[in-house]
Amino acid sequence: MMRGMLLGAASLVMALAGTLPAAAQEVVKIGLILPMTGPFASTGRQVSAGAKTFMEMKGDTVAGKKVELIIRDDAGVADQTRRIAQELVVNESVQVLAGGGLTPLAMAVAPVATQAKVPMVVTSAGTAAITKASEFITRTSGTLPQYSLPVGTWAAQNGIKKVVTLVSDYGPGLDAEKWFTKEFTSKGGEVSEAVRVPLQNPDFAPFLQRVRDAKPDAVFVFLPSGVGSLFMKQFADRGLAEAGIKLIATGDVTDDDILNSMGKPALGTITGHFYATAHDSPENKAYVEAFEKANNGMRPNFMSVGGYDSMALIYAALEKTKGDASGPGFMEAVKGLSWTSPRGPVSIDPETRDIIQNIYMREVKEVDGELHNVEFETFAALKDPEKAEAK
Ligand code: PHB
Repeated sequence: MMRGMLLGAASLVMALAGTLPAAAQEVVKIGLILPMTGPFASTGRQVSAGAKTFMEMKGDTVAGKKVELIIRDDAGVADQTRRIAQELVVNESVQVLAGGGLTPLAMAVAPVATQAKVPMVVTSAGTAAITKASEFITRTSGTLPQYSLPVGTWAAQNGIKKVVTLVSDYGPGLDAEKWFTKEFTSKGGEVSEAVRVPLQNPDFAPFLQRVRDAKPDAVFVFLPSGVGSLFMKQFADRGLAEAGIKLIATGDVTDDDILNSMGKPALGTITGHFYATAHDSPENKAYVEAFEKANNGMRPNFMSVGGYDSMALIYAALEKTKGDASGPGFMEAVKGLSWTSPRGPVSIDPETRDIIQNIYMREVKEVDGELHNVEFETFAALKDPEKAEAK
């Protein structure tokens, strides 16, 4: 009886499938959930534009399937991210999730990815622990340990003896603080104070006063993309540069999207990061051109490249699985993938599902009347050091 019912159900499914138009069977749906509104809307704008630029450049079919990108706004609220992820998987039959504009938003999707066995490609968030939250998570941004450590190396090698750290008080900030400090102090530097500022609506003035009073050679800063302008203004207003305090940071602070609006106070800032609009390569030249053309001259920042590469990863994995997006097979295909990104050569670490990439040291300079992060040193093919340490 039971067997008969199952067979009956199976043949009904097959009969229905036979009636579907061929095109409808051949679609791979990707659900990209981002903060398109709210304080982190610049992240959503950049990531979605990067993902769309990939599809404009490479087409919307891969391995014989049509790719459909569904973009949803979570307004930067984790409960919304989780609800939208569930809704996309259950009602829209989305086969791959992407996004994660901030660490709490990426973390909110992890249980959905695990339970539904749906791959999740993190485009933006940078706390090391995110890829440990689900076997179905991979990442095309980077980790804060990965790009904070080289800033510590550089500082120690360039005459900086005493540093105060200043970070946003949540996952990526704590990772940045830990790995800058670990590297810098292991090479003989001193971190005299660790200042943490609230993520939401920060007023930097009292914190910058603390930095000033400590009289360090430099202040090392991590703030999430979008917040750098306000920081730079207050850094200048408080006279820290005049007091001889050098600004060193992760590239999130001198985000290319808003760098021009920061003006002169940003000049000379030294940062470490995985992408600069000014990165000199044929792949990046083609990317920047296509991106600016499609977005009214908007400058692509590192968030946009996280979005572009999330599509590069999805296309490459689908080519390997011959268009099969089912979770376990897709995740196997992701491990060890490599490609040339606008940022340089990248690959997916088969052990951690995190991205292995170059980290560049850069200085803010004026180039043809505009401010740019100009690369001057490369730390090649870095893995996430947090996971390497845990082994
Ligand atoms: C994060 O929340 O993990 C995050 C957000 C913005 C950044 C970097 C990391 O620029």
